[in-house]
Amino acid sequence: MCGIVGYVGPRPALPVLLSGLARLEYRGYDSAGVAVLEGGRVLACKREGRLSRLEAELAPYLEAAGSAAPGACVPGGTAERDGSRARVGIGHTRWATHGVPSDENAHPHADCHGRFWVVHNGIIENYRELRAELQAQGHVFRSETDTEVVPHLIESLYRGDLAAAVAEAVRRLRGSYALAVMSPLHPGTLVAVRQESPLVVGLGRGENFLASDVPALLEFTRDTYILDEGEMAVLSPHAVQVTDRGGRPVAKEVFRVTWDASMAQKGGYPHFMLKEIHEQPGALRQTLLPRLGEEGDVRAEEDGLDPAWLGRFRRVHLVACGTAYHAGLVGKYLLEGLARIPAEAELASEFRYRQPLVDRDTLVVVISQSGETADTRAALREARARGAGVLAIVNVVGSSIAREAERVLYTWAGPEIAVASTKAYSCQVAVLTLLALHLGRLRGTLPAEESRRLGRSLRALPALVEEALAGAGRVAEVAGQVAGHEDVFFIGRGLDYAVAQEAQLKLKEISYIHAEAYAAGELKHGTLALIVPDTPVVALVTQPALREKTMSNVEEVRARGGRVYLFAPASLASGAAGVEVLTLPEVDPWLAPLVAVVPMQLLAYYAAVARGCDVDKPRNLAKSVTVE
Ligand code: F6R
Repeated sequence: MCGIVGYVGPRPALPVLLSGLARLEYRGYDSAGVAVLEGGRVLACKREGRLSRLEAELAPYLEAAGSAAPGACVPGGTAERDGSRARVGIGHTRWATHGVPSDENAHPHADCHGRFWVVHNGIIENYRELRAELQAQGHVFRSETDTEVVPHLIESLYRGDLAAAVAEAVRRLRGSYALAVMSPLHPGTLVAVRQESPLVVGLGRGENFLASDVPALLEFTRDTYILDEGEMAVLSPHAVQVTDRGGRPVAKEVFRVTWDASMAQKGGYPHFMLKEIHEQPGALRQTLLPRLGEEGDVRAEEDGLDPAWLGRFRRVHLVACGTAYHAGLVGKYLLEGLARIPAEAELASEFRYRQPLVDRDTLVVVISQSGETADTRAALREARARGAGVLAIVNVVGSSIAREAERVLYTWAGPEIAVASTKAYSCQVAVLTLLALHLGRLRGTLPAEESRRLGRSLRALPALVEEALAGAGRVAEVAGQVAGHEDVFFIGRGLDYAVAQEAQLKLKEISYIHAEAYAAGELKHGTLALIVPDTPVVALVTQPALREKTMSNVEEVRARGGRVYLFAPASLASGAAGVEVLTLPEVDPWLAPLVAVVPMQLLAYYAAVARGCDVDKPRNLAKSVTVE
């Protein structure tokens, strides 16, 4: 998501931080900030927008500091050894989650008296409770962020030992975090801690570094400690002490980075798309867990989905483009199945020109990763002009669609760089599942126990996505076979049909193989004519109630010599003959799209690689489509 850098050592900290942040720019961000400590004083600067704005603001200080090159080091000596001459700093590029992109919401954040400075990646799930508690104690907040609770919490717990206060503070946090903390009370020290959000310590000679991502370190060092879950590192110029959650020292092994800068940006993956496919478990956790209680209750009111507003709607239109539209197709099945409310998925480019019959009783859900897609934006305006309620499901906080909608549910997938959408789709489907559960409860169509059961299954879902990712090797083999063909068909029924639609788009857009998705029962009404010996047909079977029907359609394909790849959980694949089975994790049928889409994305990815395509930047396509 966001980017963190930190430095403690003899160099002027500012140029080191800015150079590290520049190397994290590729991740996408909407604001940036730094806080450095030199001579006992904190210099902090935060700006919305590009890093260059921050640099321009800091130009006089940068000139005074000189460059980040090793030559700019302050000479050694006793003062350097005891840390009193150390220069310390933390920096951050923010990708907004809680609170719009703005100078105030940019990191670092500080406590009431500027004694504890914090940068944070991730989401603090219980920040509302903590904020209320701290405000009641008299703490004054300056931003809308979840992060700001951390410095105030440290302030309230500080008894002279920074690391101890940070350790105690993180015990109060729920959610995901990578934190770096700096304090003028401890001038030669940086404290870092992580939970479900990466942090890497860079080891120098007489200086140490911190970063959320390896590229930020490469200019300075290749020797690192990769922090594990719950670990805390206390950095000074000459030492790094790592402890586990229980405060016990951990002997870390040095990991020497051998990747080049471009590989490091991709976290060691050859393409951003593959990295983003693998980021899905984390992205789903970020999106789902803050909205689900331990018992599986959906907490939707915090997102503004109050019964008074939602209760007025009699039907739902899900409007979007491309992959986001395919997420809408899944949403249609979920909303109709769980909340028993009539729902239609529509292409935004069609919706806007067809004088849609929507009114006060209609909820229009617009779905968009970028929040800037021209057709989706126009559809949103059309819906509002007709009096419909508009809820946006968006990944980019503060984007046009987020600002123009009445209510917003954010997908906290983090920046998506590959043109082909993967983790954003999964998070869109996850949010739609939450919406369906919430509406189902409100409308009384879903018993409380069933809703909680599904909520608990959703909490466990990221682990099933991890399991699905573990099957990548076998999918790659199939992709190698598919890559030699020019036509591929995907079939499924119900939710599987919706996933098949996304599967065909993914394959088409990055491998340039012609692909079509068909409702399995529809094959025999025309398309079966295209099945000749060896035609690859991918069959998705995750819905027990539809298994027999889809398997009959599989037989129709087999009878014409088609080559069937069956993606199904073992319980539904058993007994299938004459087909290649790729086993999916066992999952509740309502949640199956979130698992089944993973091998579909991998299939497209490996087929594109096998055909030598430019996976991250497919021909003729752009990431954000702001024209009609
Ligand atoms: C395909 C893809 C596109 C987008 C579509 C809408 O992989 O990414 O089909 O889904 O252009 O974009 P957003 O979600 O930004 O509105």
